[in-house]
Amino acid sequence: MKKNARKAINLLLCVVALISLLCACGKDGANDSKPEPTSAVRYVIPDVRGVYYSDAITMVEDGLEAAGFKDYEVRYCWSWENYDPAMNARILYSNPSAGTEIVDNGQHVFIELVAGEQAPELTPQPKKLVVFFSVTGNTKKVAEMIAEIEEADLYEIVPAEAYTAEDINYNDYNCRALKEQGDTSARPAIGSETIDLSGYSVIYLGYPIWAASEPRILDTFVESYDFGEARIIPFCTSGSSGIGSTATRLRMLAESGDWQSGKRFPGNATKEDVETWIDNMK
Ligand SMILES: Cc1cc2nc3c(=O)[nH]c(=O)nc-3n(C[C@H](O)[C@H](O)[C@H](O)COP(=O)(O)O)c2cc1C
Repeated sequence: MKKNARKAINLLLCVVALISLLCACGKDGANDSKPEPTSAVRYVIPDVRGVYYSDAITMVEDGLEAAGFKDYEVRYCWSWENYDPAMNARILYSNPSAGTEIVDNGQHVFIELVAGEQAPELTPQPKKLVVFFSVTGNTKKVAEMIAEIEEADLYEIVPAEAYTAEDINYNDYNCRALKEQGDTSARPAIGSETIDLSGYSVIYLGYPIWAASEPRILDTFVESYDFGEARIIPFCTSGSSGIGSTATRLRMLAESGDWQSGKRFPGNATKEDVETWIDNMK
């Protein structure tokens, strides 16, 4: 008799547990259902693959402005696929291809970002910098081409004391440049503002070849900075000499950075030459 009563109680408890479970599932199901956007305005950005967030957001913002929206707030998350509920508290859909919600004066405006079958996770683009030293302009031209192709920032190593034509007249063994080159401990001072390298993960480093070596002011530069783990890509211009061991020497002096093998360009290098080199590195 007692046994039967216990069985009946257990059965009852099971039924109660089952009913609670069903109720809970029902609630979750309700949350999963997609509420209709409350606004009539719906923006569709065709394909976000390869588009930076800022670009996508700018497109959205341009659209909103054109539609006459004022005080709006754009909420977005770092990956199109992974929402951070804390950042996107008011997301309307839990659709993996939908990326951004815009809240306009408290009204929901739904933005659909069509990301294709499987949108690749967007990673922050590496920030790039082109550092160069140039006296007669050849290295500067190559540096500017790299910066344009790579959408990189430019930083010029400007000597505290400018090199005059006399200083670089290598027909004169006693010219300033050749005297410096003959003294591996020479460290000509840099006159340009220091640069904050944090945040740059790729740094191109360009210089002319002087007496088969890097100008000593490059030694000053690499010894003045901590490159951390940034990828350092040396390049040079010259009359005919190769980059030789200049990059190896700079790497040794720098004691930081992930140094790549360098590339020599002639003084009249074209944009195609530079593009081919960059493409081959990828
Ligand atoms: C002092 C000095 C020394 C040079 N030594 C060499 C050299 O050893 N080998 C070489 O091929 N070119 C040499 N050059 C030529 C430069 O490397 C070449 O003109 C370079 O493109 C100049 O770069 P810039 O215009 O950016 O200053 C030398 C130029 C100067 C001013």
